[in-house]
Amino acid sequence: MGTIIDFKDVSKSYGHHPVLNQINLAIPSSEIFGLIGPSGSGKTTLIKILIGLESLSKGEVSFKDEKIKAIPFFKKIGYMAQSDALYEELTAQENLHFFGSLYGIKKKDRNRRIEEVMKTVDLLDHRKKPVHLYSGGMKRRLSLAIALLHDPEVLILDEPTVGIDPVLRKEIWEQFQKLKEQGRTLLITTHVMDEAERCDRLALLRDGRIIATEKPETIKESFQVSSIEEVFLKSGVSSL
Ligand SMILES: Nc1ncnc2c1ncn2[C@@H]1O[C@H](COP(=O)(O)OP(=O)(O)O)[C@@H](O)[C@H]1O
Ligand SMILES: [Mg+2]
Repeated sequence: MGTIIDFKDVSKSYGHHPVLNQINLAIPSSEIFGLIGPSGSGKTTLIKILIGLESLSKGEVSFKDEKIKAIPFFKKIGYMAQSDALYEELTAQENLHFFGSLYGIKKKDRNRRIEEVMKTVDLLDHRKKPVHLYSGGMKRRLSLAIALLHDPEVLILDEPTVGIDPVLRKEIWEQFQKLKEQGRTLLITTHVMDEAERCDRLALLRDGRIIATEKPETIKESFQVSSIEEVFLKSGVSSL
């Protein structure tokens, strides 16, 4: 299992304000990789650099050993932004058709894929509803369905389960597990600590620096704590 995404000495500043500081991070393929850190620690910025929505100030990023500016977007990755980018006046199904055509999915395959992904996020019965009638959690799930639509090799999900109740969150994590078993790579940001524990590997981010990268168990052992939350508490962050 090789490295699929590799950040080398990546730094980013907005004006004189450093946001990411010499990030070195190798993300293995076919794993669930969690980027964990308090609000403002730089998670979204790191992800935006990866997909080309932000430029880096220093360093480089490689995808499959090839130095890149950003991951070739539509073919390889499914991206779910931290805030939903949906057309509120359209129905869920219309949104999916729109993004499906953008990804270049043929119309006859599109209907089948839409049904599959809506089933995955448990929204099949609500597919004809305009999105402005959706709750926050339903919008999150629809965004996830859109990210899955073109069956991408890598999924980059920025706080995918915000506003989703614990029962459905568990189901969505089971889905993440299945995607991984099919060989997909998942890069997920979260500040929910029980989600951190479900990742194969974690990078803990604090003030734009990585304070640990390892399997959750190994991180807990090396900090001599029983939960990931305590790692942050021990390293000086009082709330996530
Ligand atoms: N476009 C921007 N201009 C200036 N500062 C920004 C911009 N985007 C993010 N930041 C700052 O960068 C830091 C990291 O933000 P972000 O990557 O969104 O963190 P996280 O996703 O971990 O909450 C924060 O201090 C935030 O205020
Ligand atoms: Mg963020």
